Formats: sequence, structure tokens, C-alpha cells
Amino acid sequence: MRFLSIALTLKYFSTAHAAYCSGSPDPDAPPNTLPTQQNPTQQLLRSVENGAVYSANSNSDSHSFLITHLWGTPYEQGFAHGTMMASEISDFFTSTYEYLGDALVEELPQLRFPEWFLDLVVEKGLDWALDWTANATAEFTAPEFFDELKGIADGSGVDYALLLRIHMLPEATKGACSMIGAADTATATSNLLQLRALDWDVDGPFKDHANLIVYHNDNDPDRVSWANIAWTGFIGSVTGFNSQKMSISEIGVTFPDDTFGKESRHGIPFVNLLRDVLEKESTFQGADNRITDADRTCNLILGVGDAKTSQFNAVQYSADVVNFITSDNLLPVNDTWHAPITDITYFGMDWLCPAYSEVLHDQLVANVPLTPANMIEDVIAITQTGNLHIAVYDLAENNVYLSFARKSSDDGKNDREGDMAFERTFTRIDTAALFSTPQPSE
Ligand SMILES: *[C@@H]1O[C@H](CO)[C@@H](O)[C@H](O)[C@H]1NC(C)=O
Ligand SMILES: *[C@@H]1O[C@H](CO)[C@@H](O)[C@H](O)[C@H]1NC(C)=O
Repeated sequence: MRFLSIALTLKYFSTAHAAYCSGSPDPDAPPNTLPTQQNPTQQLLRSVENGAVYSANSNSDSHSFLITHLWGTPYEQGFAHGTMMASEISDFFTSTYEYLGDALVEELPQLRFPEWFLDLVVEKGLDWALDWTANATAEFTAPEFFDELKGIADGSGVDYALLLRIHMLPEATKGACSMIGAADTATATSNLLQLRALDWDVDGPFKDHANLIVYHNDNDPDRVSWANIAWTGFIGSVTGFNSQKMSISEIGVTFPDDTFGKESRHGIPFVNLLRDVLEKESTFQGADNRITDADRTCNLILGVGDAKTSQFNAVQYSADVVNFITSDNLLPVNDTWHAPITDITYFGMDWLCPAYSEVLHDQLVANVPLTPANMIEDVIAITQTGNLHIAVYDLAENNVYLSFARKSSDDGKNDREGDMAFERTFTRIDTAALFSTPQPSE
């Protein structure tokens, strides 16, 4: 009965939707003038043969987040991850499962479950729907993914089926999100500056488990070292960068136009594809080829940047189409709310999303030449995008700027910041230092 009421409510809302996304940034949104934490403290919490976990900003309860380093084969990396963080992984996956199961889906509007998934849930239940998704995507998923997940299960003692189910969640939900790729005349250094702002769920457990997970793969000729801005125990990627100065952005498309065609359920989960881009590609062309050749599933806008060459592509991505978009051929075409800007490719919250796109456009134009500082202070804060986490990639300078939503354990008494990542203190991470962190010797 509960599932039925969910489905009816959701169907009602989806037919009531206009073709454009609704909502808009607050016209009085303040800039984010908080000074960036340039040199975060890093305190070693735990280490094992193939792993080490640090707390970044360990001196501040409100701004601390985990940095996890992993070495070895995919299984060994998973095992180290699981061993070091067994209780955190158990907590995150169990509480996420309970969050999904306990709430009525209409109480989770930020997850924006698509209709096909709700139909499966109504018919057969949540476990079945997630298992069905795992089955439909398994043959398109790299075997190393399953090895690593098995390692996490063995190391942590958390049920493998639960780990796999929660990994299907991004494929069955949609984040709103925004992205920017800017270079040449549009940035102060002329190098690539890229934004990934994740607008997803800030009510559930996600905000309590932020983890920058670094894979040290230098000894493996088939894998590139990379870093995943994710959650403890989560090994797909929505946000990340690699040691070859490449980085990703992503937006779930809830408001497509008819150029997207139909979605498919049978293909590679996009979080696995994005991970493969970072872990297996070291060139811009290689990344584009991988995306073109993928068995694609749902409607997305992806972003891939390469700071070696200052190139950036947004990608119109669906089962039917793959279109590489730059500042010279910005899509969708609309001079009213998505006007081209020289050397900047941008998307605010969705494909057809005038209210956010227009504010983003105006902030970009007002702040050229862009720097990480003016992106954080004005562009992101005034567009009010990136509620859960944000990465500003300045990889030519070996820097990434990160911000995370306020944790639920933090009552906010120690700072005067808002709760959303875009309102909070950003932390600069030196990516060269990150990738050269030494393996613990035992
Ligand atoms: C998924 O695949 C397994 C193994 O083939 C099978 O036992 C299970 O019934 C499948 N589940 C669903 C929901 O398709
Ligand atoms: C641009 O968007 C507006 C709505 O904001 C719409 O009325 C107009 O037809 C669009 N123009 C094009 C070229 O699609």
C-alpha cells in the first residue's frame, strides 16, 4: 500500500511538471566571503599495509572530512578500505538503506527517482528493484569493480549484497547539479578551471560520510592514480580527478528536450563509466572515446576536463546520443537563458533550466577572468548550486578546492556558516602532495 501511494503521488507530480525545471536561486543570495582553508591540517587516524586514513581539518569538527589512501590490486584496495573503516562503512550503508526504506519516496524529492524505478519498487520492493538494476548493468561493468567491492565486504564484514545495492542508487536517482569548464580568455591564468557542484540529497546520511579516496595505482600499468570525492565505502564516481590532471563533472537530466531520445536500463552505470574515465584514461581523446563507445543508459550531462591541454567538453549523454559540447557550440541553444560566453561551457542544474542557467551566465560574465576565488565567492554562491559537495578543479596549479554540506552531528554553534556546501568554507587540497603520499611501511 505504501509503495502504491508513492507511485501515484510521483506520477501526479511528473505529469504536472512543466517542460522547464522549476525553482530559482534566491535573488538576494549572498556571496561566500569565507576565507578558503589553504593548508588543512591532516591527522593520521589509521593505517594498514595497503591503506591510510587521515582527517583533514582535524582541528575543526564542522569542517573535518576524511582522506583515504589505498594501494595494491583492486581487491587489496577494497580490503584495506574495508578493514580501516569497517564501522564507518557499516554505518553509511546501513543508514542509507534505512533512509530509503523508511521514508515514503515522496519525502525524498531531492533524489528524484525516475518513474521506471518507482514502478519496479511498487511492483516488487526496493531490494528487488536495486538487484534488478545491478543485474541489468553487471555485464557492462569492469570485473575489477566487483573485486574491489568484494574486498570491501571481506575487510569490513558488511554484506556484499547491501554494498552492491547502494552502489545502484545513483543509476536510479538524479542529481540536479551544475558544471563549468573555462579556459583561455575566460580564466586569469588561461588554464582550465572546472566546476562540479553536486545538488542531491542533504537530508539523508550522505553528508555525514564525505571521503576523498585516493587510489595509488602507479605500480599498475593498466590504471592511472586518481581520487574520488565520494562517501566512505562508495567506489563509483560522481566527482573526482586523476594524476594526469583530468577531472569530471556530471548533471542528472530531469528536464531533457526530445534530442535525448529514450533512456536504457541495460548498460554501464554512469558512476562506473566516470570512474573508468579517471582510472583508465590519461588523454582527453581517450576519455571522449570511452564515453562514445560506452553502452550508455540514462540522460545526463557529463563534463570532462584535461588541464594538460586546457580542454573541456560537456557531453549530452543518453542511450541514443552522445554529443560533445564546447563553448563554441553550446547546447541547448537559447540566447535568452543559455547565451554563449567566449571560452566558457556551462550548465545550471539541468538541461532545460532557465532560472538557474541565467543567473549562472550572468555571474560568469561579471567575473571573467575567472579564478578559484571569484568562482567560490560569487559564481557558485550566488547561483546557489552545490548543496551536498563542490569541487573546483584547478589542476594546472595542482589544486582542488572542496566544500561539503554541514554534517548532522554539527549544531552550527561553532561557525556562522550556512548548511549548504556553497555557503561554507572551502578547503584547498594540493593534488601533487596527495598523489605522492607515501605508503605506510609495516
Ligand atoms: C539477479 O541475478 C541473480 C543471479 O543470476 C538472480 O538469482 C536474481 O534473481 C536476479 N534478481 C533480479 C531482481 O533480477
Ligand atoms: C528560449 O527560451 C524561451 C523561454 O525562456 C522560449 O520562449 C524561446 O522559444 C526559446 N528560444 C529558442 C530558440 O528555443
